[in-house]
Amino acid sequence: MTGKLRLGVNIDHVATIRNARGGPHPDPLRAAQAAAAAGADGITVHLRDDSRHIRDEGLVVLSQGLTLPINLEMAATDEMLAIALRHRPHAVCLVPERREERTTEGGLDVARQHNLVSPIVRKLADAGARVSLFIEPDPIQLAVAEAMGAAVVELHTGAYCEAVQAGHADEAARHLDRLARAAQLGAARGLEIHAGHGITFDSVKPIAAIPELAELNIGHFLIGEAIFVGLDAAIRLMRALMDEARAETAA
Ligand code: PXP
Repeated sequence: MTGKLRLGVNIDHVATIRNARGGPHPDPLRAAQAAAAAGADGITVHLRDDSRHIRDEGLVVLSQGLTLPINLEMAATDEMLAIALRHRPHAVCLVPERREERTTEGGLDVARQHNLVSPIVRKLADAGARVSLFIEPDPIQLAVAEAMGAAVVELHTGAYCEAVQAGHADEAARHLDRLARAAQLGAARGLEIHAGHGITFDSVKPIAAIPELAELNIGHFLIGEAIFVGLDAAIRLMRALMDEARAETAA
């Protein structure tokens, strides 16, 4: 049976706007509280090495002011590991990171970086975090993620969402099929399956309809849309579209 699909709201770009002026406004904690009131099931933040959005001290403020679980996205480095072990978030998602990139451009190549990623997964899991690996929807990456003992994989939806946005229906259908197959394969391997990156109102329903998915993480589009309709309305509509997709799958 298809369960409820959780929505993790990524508030990084509230911090991006705040950092543009260096003052306290807009406050990421206030945004996280608004997201909780609008129906978010968790708050996601990406702690980047270059501190371009949420910073170490911001995490303390968030964890003290929120009852929702926090999902910390971070690179698989010893420095980030030390920060995660200090904050003990509910969940950690390991992502690839390059300083010069505008956003997380692809999945983590866990097959190639096995020796680097594997000990970090183990240490985080030993500390009680739910560990997720942000990967491309690829059978080899799924097999390695399972072998590493990750509880969760998050499938990178960027290529699908870009094809939808560009109006390339055939390409979008191919990417969606790849995501659906990976979700099925991953679930058969006992992994919890999440998805995220680039999701908008136009791309969310076909993704949300994939029955094996347990959680979507959505950020940039929601914060952008909040400029026009407010954060509450943007999150409520995204939530409603996710629920509609699930109800249609179940019907
Ligand atoms: N999931 C992961 C692992 C990410 O790195 C990001 C971007 O930080 C997202 C989800 C959210 O992507 P977007 O901001 O495009 O919705």
